[in-house]
Amino acid sequence: MTLGEGMRTLRSGVLLLGLLAGVVAWADVDLPSKFDNRNSIANTRHNLTQRQASGGPSGAIMDPYRNDYAEVCVYCHTPHGANTNVALPLWNRTVTATSYTTYAALGTSSLTQPVTQPGPNSLACLSCHDGQVGVDSVINMPGSGGYSAAQATSQNNTFLNAWNNASGPDATVHVGLNATPAAGCLACHSAGAGVVGAGATDFAAFVIGSDLRNDHPVGVLYPTTGPGIDFNAAGATRTGMRWFDTNGNGRPDTREVRLYDSGEGFEVECATCHDPHGVPSGGSGSLFNPSFLRLPNAASALCLTCHTK
Ligand code: HEC
Ligand code: HEC
Ligand code: HEC
Ligand code: HEC
Ligand code: HEC
Repeated sequence: MTLGEGMRTLRSGVLLLGLLAGVVAWADVDLPSKFDNRNSIANTRHNLTQRQASGGPSGAIMDPYRNDYAEVCVYCHTPHGANTNVALPLWNRTVTATSYTTYAALGTSSLTQPVTQPGPNSLACLSCHDGQVGVDSVINMPGSGGYSAAQATSQNNTFLNAWNNASGPDATVHVGLNATPAAGCLACHSAGAGVVGAGATDFAAFVIGSDLRNDHPVGVLYPTTGPGIDFNAAGATRTGMRWFDTNGNGRPDTREVRLYDSGEGFEVECATCHDPHGVPSGGSGSLFNPSFLRLPNAASALCLTCHTK
């Protein structure tokens, strides 16, 4: 056993003890994020190489749990060898066949539109936010070699173990945004995670899971507008997309709410409301809208783009 392995064993032992004891003494302190949310995705929570280096517990403790690829885009995109099972731009992530419980299963009497399984522009987000695969489960790692076509549909830890973290010990487990606290990022990033996760920011709200009944419907067909229908019309159309072209430039800009057609008509998906790269608010200093929203939701502007309420 190397020193690194010893430390890892020790750590998981401590982690287990902490969980068993239900330790609350080390409950989360929610440190202010080091991300300034300006100018680039590199300064947001979607830069998965970043961590708290000072001003709190060190994020170096995370190294055994996920590969630090030292690049920002690679967790989602690759210039070559991308995933062709899903219609997403140069997608570098494992997308597993998952059956989601849709919002329709909740059975509200007011829902009028058909809801189907999430389309590609939701599957992109769910490839991390449903917690089924590791955040670092990519097809093509940086550098030459480090490519596995089989990664397109399933996570292979032997393949992922080949990566050497420059920042610290290598990862041997490749965890995801799991709801089961013992298993994934939430082993540390949740309230009362115990001594190992002491001070790690609480990510519980970021776990969407595969049950979508408590989320705004996705894969839901946007109604055609007309008399008596309380929805606004998205004016501009191109192949596969319809959008609210608020600046009239004929391009779907990052700030404009989009609907996606992946073969079932124009539907609301996760990327309808969110841009995972961050959207400048347009104010001074170009601070991004909170929560990667395409529009700041002050006065519910995002909701009122579609709903006439
Ligand atoms: C062994 C405990 C542990 C695990 C497991 C863990 N983290 Fe962390 N993480 C920390 C600690 C401690 C910090 C530093 C405190 C902080 O910033 O929340 C941190 C910081 C971070 C930060 C910086 C947060 C900020 O706003 O500055 C990100 C991003 C992050 N972790 C992502 C992840 C992801 C994604 C996973 C799962 C793949 C994960 N972590 C798993 C302990 C952990
Ligand atoms: C957390 C995942 C994630 C990361 C990291 C990421 N992207 Fe993306 N990117 C996406 C998704 C999802 C889409 C598809 C957006 C949609 O559905 O409309 C996308 C789309 C794009 C597109 C297509 C045009 C557009 O804006 O829709 C480009 C270009 C792009 N990304 C470049 C980058 C670059 C360059 C980086 C690194 C600096 C990066 N992305 C990092 C998730 C990511
Ligand atoms: C590569 C994995 C990955 C993908 C793909 C991804 N996310 Fe995330 N996202 C994360 C992680 C991990 C966090 C939270 C931890 C952190 O980094 O601080 C997060 C955080 C968020 C947050 C909270 C941001 C905040 O500051 O409060 C939102 C909103 C979000 N993601 C939306 C999306 C949407 C929408 C998509 C698809 C368009 C998406 N994500 C795709 C990994 C991903
Ligand atoms: C109809 C618009 C809309 C759609 C569709 C949508 N979201 Fe969101 N999402 C929002 C808004 C608005 C917020 C901010 C909520 C808040 O501030 O509490 C948000 C917040 C989030 C957060 C942060 C959680 C929090 O409470 O801070 C995550 C993660 C997230 N969304 C992921 C997703 C994913 C994944 C999908 C697709 C399954 C999705 N969203 C679809 C509007 C949407
Ligand atoms: C891109 C357009 C779009 C945006 C933006 C949007 N919605 Fe929706 N929303 C829809 C569609 C389409 C439906 C399905 C309506 C139906 O089936 O009758 C829906 C359904 C709903 C429902 C009702 C579901 C039911 O059971 O009857 C509520 C409530 C709702 N949205 C609230 C919101 C809120 C709050 C926001 C802002 C955070 C928001 N929506 C943003 C398009 C949108």
